Amino acid sequence: MAKVLDGAAIAAEIQQEVAGEVAALASKGVRPGLAVVLVGHVAASEIYVRSKVKTCEELGIHSELITPPESITTEEMLAIVAELNGREEIDGILIQLPLPPQVDTKRLLDAILPEKDVDGFHPVNAGRLQAGRPSLAPCTPAGVIQILRRSGIPIAGAHAVVVGRSDIVGKPAAMLLLNEHATVTVCHSRTRDLASFTRQADILVAAIGRAGFITPEMVKPGATLIDVGINRITDREEFLRFFAGDARREETFTRRGSVIVGDIDPHAFALSGAYTPVPGGVGKLTIAMLMSNTLQAARQRRGF
Ligand code: GUN
Repeated sequence: MAKVLDGAAIAAEIQQEVAGEVAALASKGVRPGLAVVLVGHVAASEIYVRSKVKTCEELGIHSELITPPESITTEEMLAIVAELNGREEIDGILIQLPLPPQVDTKRLLDAILPEKDVDGFHPVNAGRLQAGRPSLAPCTPAGVIQILRRSGIPIAGAHAVVVGRSDIVGKPAAMLLLNEHATVTVCHSRTRDLASFTRQADILVAAIGRAGFITPEMVKPGATLIDVGINRITDREEFLRFFAGDARREETFTRRGSVIVGDIDPHAFALSGAYTPVPGGVGKLTIAMLMSNTLQAARQRRGF
């Protein structure tokens, strides 16, 4: 029987640990602080950001939400970042992505002080990660490592195959797995005969952004499947391809007109040794790791 890796339970455990450490810092007069910048009114971003701010409150972390208009320029955004860089009580700066097209995202991310870069997107942090130095690691791939570790899945010596090479997930996930002594293969959209690689994976990390892209034939029986994808499907035929006979999802699909599916075809889960469900898997860890990074940034900056 495939084991379900419960992202919500692992995230709750991490958040409880962070809350304990935040309380210990409070007794020394230190309160970690996170600034979140949300531009415009993208519905999904607003939901994520609200959840980030709420979790800060629950854990005793100071948070500030800055909401510039959709029309903001790169120069104006740079001024906001410069101001936050200079503020002692702000340990972490998160600019919610994606940004409107007129804003130069890379220039902006590069302007965040690396020690306040709780997203781990700054090239200095990417470099530190690849050089095996302590660094603020991107939250979603850091969450993948926590799920594996806390579920007792051996990483050292395992063959980990990462499908996807984004700067935010695929590349840092590969680096973190390598730092944990996995043998790592990175595949992507130009990989020839992808299935010949994925079938070798003891740990398969799917971060492609395509609904159900990893099919059962692409999976080695007994493998650990880590599904980073969050894809909304609205087409009934596509729904039936993944979820025919699933009464609970059928009800959701009928009520909302859509359901979420990961990058792994759910039929593959039955073959696996363990898997992260979507929703309720990796996604739950992203905010927990943001909280953990904010605590880490506060400690490092303030010498605790
Ligand atoms: N948008 C979607 N995921 C993320 C994330 O992890 N960090 C930021 N800054 N924006 C996002």
